[in-house]
Amino acid sequence: MPDWVSIAEESAVAADAGATFFVDDIEVAVFRSEGNLFAIEGKCPHKGASLGNGAIDGCAVTCPWHDWKFDLKTGEGLTNPSSPVASLAVRVTGGSIEIDRETLPLKTAASTNSNDGIHRYLVRYGSLGWVGVFGNVDKVECQHRDRVILQTHRGQELGEVLSIPEDLAAQNNSDKPGGEVVRVATSDESKTHAPRSKELTLRLIEECSAVLAESDIDLAIVDGEVLFDNESAVLYFLGDSNPDAGPLVTDIAKLHNLERIELYPFIDPPEPEGGGCGKEGCGGGGCHS
Ligand code: FES
Repeated sequence: MPDWVSIAEESAVAADAGATFFVDDIEVAVFRSEGNLFAIEGKCPHKGASLGNGAIDGCAVTCPWHDWKFDLKTGEGLTNPSSPVASLAVRVTGGSIEIDRETLPLKTAASTNSNDGIHRYLVRYGSLGWVGVFGNVDKVECQHRDRVILQTHRGQELGEVLSIPEDLAAQNNSDKPGGEVVRVATSDESKTHAPRSKELTLRLIEECSAVLAESDIDLAIVDGEVLFDNESAVLYFLGDSNPDAGPLVTDIAKLHNLERIELYPFIDPPEPEGGGCGKEGCGGGGCHS
């Protein structure tokens, strides 16, 4: 018998996009493509990327880390048929997206086992100074305070290493990584990103604030950052979320050759499990205000 559980408002998944949610600590990716809603297990079976951040093309999603493709309807592995993901029953009722718990994959021992082959790093990242656990199945040689490139649910960004795998292993750390440590950043990358990000962020804050004010939307944008990949910008606001705000800043993103500008509440920013606030329901796909 189905056991439907509400996971988000219908508007939390934009057209032709995906988003990540957690149900009973299991990562779930929900997509809206060509007017239909799909849900699959959210963790890529290859190395654990969040499929909710993948690019969708019709009924397929491409993993953001190494490009494996999955069928959104069936969960079939299109790149690697021996590695499918679970397809989940999803529906919209009364404006809410619901998932049938009965279709969730069982948690495997591997997902809770600290000896899972992942090298874990504690990293500070983001302009708000979040701290989270990031991992890689291949060891990335780095030291305390090194700058590294991270793959987070928001895109590629710079972080600062606080603990290396040897330190975390001594603490029996088994947190689920919130993303991947991709590589150590070059000193040139570290030096040039911050000023470029700062300059564009200030312009985005000014322009987005003006557009929102023109539409009488009462959000005070107080901070932000342009990610290392130069594709995404995140702006943090004070005030209540407003579903009309996101579409209004889309044109400003295009104007600056960005793929997206995401608006997150300043007090309670959404982060994936294992990183930042780790709050259920606000991880992965971002808060599409
Ligand atoms: S983590 Fe998804 S393809 Fe490698």
